[in-house]
Formats: sequence, structure tokens, C-alpha cells
Amino acid sequence: MTSIDYATRIPNNVDLAGDRTLQRALEQWQPNFVDWWRDMGPDGSHNFDVYLRTATSVESDGWAHFDYVKMPDYRWGIFLAPVAAERRIHFGDHLGEDAWQEVPGEHRANLRRIIVTQGDTEPASVEQQRHLGLTAPSMYDLRNLFQINVEEGRHLWAMVYLLHRHFGRDGREEAEALLQRRSGDADNPRILGAFNERTPDWLAFFMFTHFTDRDGKFQLKALAESGFDPLARTTRFMLTEEAHHMFVGDAGLSRVIQRTCEVMNELRTEDPARLRAAGVIDLPTVQRYLNFHYSVTLDLFGADESSNAATFYASGLKGRFDEAKREGDHRLHSETYEILEVKDGRLAPRRVPMLNALNEVLRDDFVRDSLSGVERWNRRVEKTGVTARLMLPHKAFNRRIGTLASVSVSPEGEVLAREKWEARAHEWLPSDADRAFVASLMGRVVEPGRFAGWIAPPATGIDGHPIDFEYVRFG
Ligand SMILES: [Fe+2]
Ligand SMILES: [Fe+2]
Repeated sequence: MTSIDYATRIPNNVDLAGDRTLQRALEQWQPNFVDWWRDMGPDGSHNFDVYLRTATSVESDGWAHFDYVKMPDYRWGIFLAPVAAERRIHFGDHLGEDAWQEVPGEHRANLRRIIVTQGDTEPASVEQQRHLGLTAPSMYDLRNLFQINVEEGRHLWAMVYLLHRHFGRDGREEAEALLQRRSGDADNPRILGAFNERTPDWLAFFMFTHFTDRDGKFQLKALAESGFDPLARTTRFMLTEEAHHMFVGDAGLSRVIQRTCEVMNELRTEDPARLRAAGVIDLPTVQRYLNFHYSVTLDLFGADESSNAATFYASGLKGRFDEAKREGDHRLHSETYEILEVKDGRLAPRRVPMLNALNEVLRDDFVRDSLSGVERWNRRVEKTGVTARLMLPHKAFNRRIGTLASVSVSPEGEVLAREKWEARAHEWLPSDADRAFVASLMGRVVEPGRFAGWIAPPATGIDGHPIDFEYVRFG
């Protein structure tokens, strides 16, 4: 059951042919998805032959098959990781019971909400990134963008399968609505804030894939623990694809930083104006972009105290990151966790029941992961001899959700009067002038092996091919 049948209209490893009603319903959704892709997928790319990775099986050696594909013909399909024999729920109040293969009635509304919220982020990011192909810094980067886009499309398929298979009529309605909301639309926006922000340039794209796809990793890791087995198996396979998205962001930012440091050394200057004149992105601008994308991504984890998060955990729907590897009773009735609150105008720690703080627990796991990314970039900077460093802003900086939304905090963690904060915001967040400068560098460089001047080439190509391989053939 793990090899994927590509002869059918919808490639799958879930025996779709054995459920004609479900198959018909998904085949009705499919043309609407393709219409959405043609309208909202990568701009002007429909005739390109792109060297893409497609899963041929969900075994470890089967999900990285590469070939040229025209993206609208990409075989989006439904792939679940194999069933683990006798899987049991390993956290929450149902601990020890058999994992569910069907949706338990009492948890139906919450599960649907979890799946719809995750599903909504997938097409949203494709919409946010749809113009970036026009300003790719290289053919190699263009191919990576398209790889991410088709895989986010497949992640939408993954969530839509669960909705169609397990939620009947309202599941089908939710699946339609996933194709109707639009990132940034005033009347019908995507569900979560960060997915309505613009991703107008490649620095924003690398920040997005580094930080916001990393939020995706942590959400998926928490759902991969779910007592609802089809959700756990779906998200486990999605995580294999997510790793590449974060690689693109992480490596992309490393290459931007590398190039900037090289020019800093050549010109022996840290002066942003001189570096900009030389056509590279000065590190303070990189830092401001980082501050923005990191802080809006932190908000995706939700309020620091949340009764929904407690319910999702107690019900066995959503675990913690690496739940199975953690110590403790996995019920959390007697554990506490430290969150931040504002007391007399200062940030102060406060202990609350861990069950209510699970959004914060996951956010802190994300913070640790993000920190190691910044340390990696700083080691790269250090190797060039440049003394400047990048940093993660304080987690209370620029927040819009939870307790911390009520305070104005500097990147160093100092609580400020709102007017003071506003007056300094241009030091901390990208200004219109920063964005205009970065936009001015964005030109289309797509000859094999050539790279825009603001970014260093990667160390290696894709799938063992050289950097100057023809990753995209323009039709
Ligand atoms: Fe995704
Ligand atoms: Fe992703």
C-alpha cells in the first residue's frame, strides 16, 4: 500500500479507488484546485519545464524522485505515512487508548478547526509568493521557489483529503472555502495574520521560509503526535517536504549574509550607504527584516494562555513538540510553565498550569530552534572576519497576539512608552525606504550558473547536479 499509483487521476496511497464516493468528491474538487493554481500559483510559469522532486512512495527512498515537470501538470496527490501497527494515544486524558482511525464525535469540531487552520496556510503561502519568480536571483533559486510552491499545493491536498474523507458535507464545504480565501484580501482573507502579509522580495522570501515555514514544522510536529491517526500520518509525510523549505530559507539567508560580508571586506566598510551603493544588502537591513518576520511568526503560535490549547492536548488531538520523547506523565494536570506578563510596566515571569500554556511551550521550542539558526549565520559572519552580529529580538518585541500585545517592547526586551517605541520603530522594522532599496536589487537573473550580485552561489546544486545545471527550461 505504500507505493503510489500515478495512473489514476489523483495519485494516492490511500486506496482511493476502493471508496468511489470519496474519489468522485475529490475529482470534483480537483479542477477547482487547478483553476486556483492557474489564477494564484506562480505568475507566468505555466509553460516552464521545472526540475522538480515528486514522491513516488512514502518510504524513505521513494519521496525524492526528480524530473522535468510543467507545474500545472504536477501530480499532486494524497500520501500518508505507513500505518504503525497498534498505535496508541500517548498523551492527554485518553492516554493508553487505541489511536482513532475515525473522528470521535465529541472532538469533531475541534479537529475540523485544527485541519482547516493548517490547510489554510498552504495555499496562502503560494499566493504570497506568486510574483517572486519574476525577480529570481538565479535559475537554481527559481527552481527551489517552484519546488516549495508545488509542495505547499500538495499540503493543501493533504488537508483536503482529511476534510473530504472524515467530515462529510461540512468537510467538503471547508475544502471549497480553502480555495476561495485569498492572502491579504480585505473581504475574505486567510485565517492567520502572517499569511496575509506580503512577501514582496527575495529577502522576505528567505525570511519567510526560514521562520514561517519553521512555524509550520513545529505545528506539524505537534499534529504528528495526534491521537487521530490519519492526521498524524499525513503530517509525518508533510514534514519530509517541510525540511527542504526551511533549508531554502536558511541557506538563502546564509548566502545573502556571505555576499554582504565579502563586500564589507573588499570596501573595508560597515557603512550601509556605501554597501547599498555597491549593490548588497547591509546587515542592519537584514536584521530589520529578521525582526519583522520573526515577530509576526511568533504570533502564529497563539495566545500565551489558551483554553483551546489545553482542550486540544487533553483531548489527544495535538501534542507537544516531540511529545513521545518527553519525560513526565503526559497528562500535565500537575505541571506548570512560566509565561511572561506585564507588571508595573515591566515584563515579569508568572507560573501558570502547563495545560493552559501549551502555545507558549511550542513557541519556546521554536525560539530555541530559531536561535540556533542565527548562531549558524553568525559563525558564517565570523569566518569572514566581520565583527557585526545578527540577533533574535526579544520574544515580546512587536507582538500582536496574547498578553504581550498590550506592551511596546524593544528588541532588547525593554518596555517603552508607545510614542517612544513608534519613534524608534524605523530602527527595528523594515521601513518603506528599506523595502524600496531591496526591491531595487531584485532583477531577473536566470541564465544557468549566473547569480544576482547581492547573493553568493550555493555550495552545491540540487539532486547531485552542478550549480549551472538547467533547472528550469523556459517554454
Ligand atoms: Fe506546507
Ligand atoms: Fe512549507
